[in-house]
Amino acid sequence: ALPSPPGPLNNPLAKLVNDPAHPWIAPGPNDMRGPCPGLNTLANHGYLPRNGIVTPSQIVTAVQEGFNMGNDLAVFLAYAVHLVDGNLLTNLLSIGGKTSETGPDPPSPAIVGGADTHAVFEGDASTTRADAFFGDNHSFNETLFDELTAFSNKFGGGAYNLTVASEIRFQRIQDSIATNPQFSFVSPRYFTAFAESFFPLAFFVDGRETNSLTLDLTVARGFFQDGRMPDDFFRSNISWTLGAIGGGVEVIFEAHPVLPGANNGTINSYTVDPNSANLSDGCKAYTDFVDVIVRGLYPSATGPLLQALNQNLDFFFGAISTSGCTQVPAFV
Ligand code: HEM
Ligand code: MG
Repeated sequence: ALPSPPGPLNNPLAKLVNDPAHPWIAPGPNDMRGPCPGLNTLANHGYLPRNGIVTPSQIVTAVQEGFNMGNDLAVFLAYAVHLVDGNLLTNLLSIGGKTSETGPDPPSPAIVGGADTHAVFEGDASTTRADAFFGDNHSFNETLFDELTAFSNKFGGGAYNLTVASEIRFQRIQDSIATNPQFSFVSPRYFTAFAESFFPLAFFVDGRETNSLTLDLTVARGFFQDGRMPDDFFRSNISWTLGAIGGGVEVIFEAHPVLPGANNGTINSYTVDPNSANLSDGCKAYTDFVDVIVRGLYPSATGPLLQALNQNLDFFFGAISTSGCTQVPAFV
């Protein structure tokens, strides 16, 4: 049996996390890094294995310890990504691209491509990463950071704040509508896009000023580009649960309430998709993720693979078991 997900922090307050035990060390040529500046940072500081090959439990422990992510959100994200991008037989996941270091793959259509894999979790209109259509969905993109800087100057007095988050989120959607014929903006990407715009305010702001929700751009660049905490960095002073992040997501959405949808193969053809979950239906987002995306990758698992699949699905649902959603029955 797989280990159960770790529980919450005992002391969920701000503390020094860029400490002598966790120095920043640049990744080596064989170390995996990917589209998430949070996970990249945790690997560069040794909160995650520096090679970027991790277990979902290690992710939960690291995001809590290093950034004070709440336990429900940590478990939800870690197991979501592991279910679609990880190797369920070896319990290993690459936080970047595909690698043999996660062990022998289960049969296709399973992908086991790491966090870089497009469309099952990673998606379009990212903040500082380009759309997969343009060839690289995971590397820091200076042009996009320049856009973020311009918006921070225009709307945030030179810093990233909630107004900037709202405006740049909308701008990135407009960018993709206007340039990416394959732009897709449906669940789960629809949810993660709004969340990732709030994450820098929750997690990259020093814990001695959590309430400011204001992020210096030099600090932002350190995280986004180099996966690096500033010197003397304290983690957030509150544990950011699903509900707390949801509050930020709501504000960002309300500023420009774009509904889930996609371009239809040509640019500037964005059409709302009524089949996608929207922000008011989190249970549908959960159910569709399991029933459509995970099931699509594992339509006929048997034996140890089926057992691992169902255990990971149980851990995943455990994160939202008090939300009123109904668990999708175990795969057979
Ligand atoms: C983006 C995974 C935790 C900050 C992403 C993406 C993935 C991911 C796959 C790419 C989505 C996309 O833009 O297409 C995860 C997982 C986590 C986690 C599995 C486990 C709990 C965190 C934490 C932080 C963070 C703790 C902050 C400290 C971000 C940000 C982005 C992002 C800011 C947007 C990057 C950009 O587009 O510039 N994450 N993440 N994540 N994540 Fe994470
Ligand atoms: Mg992306």
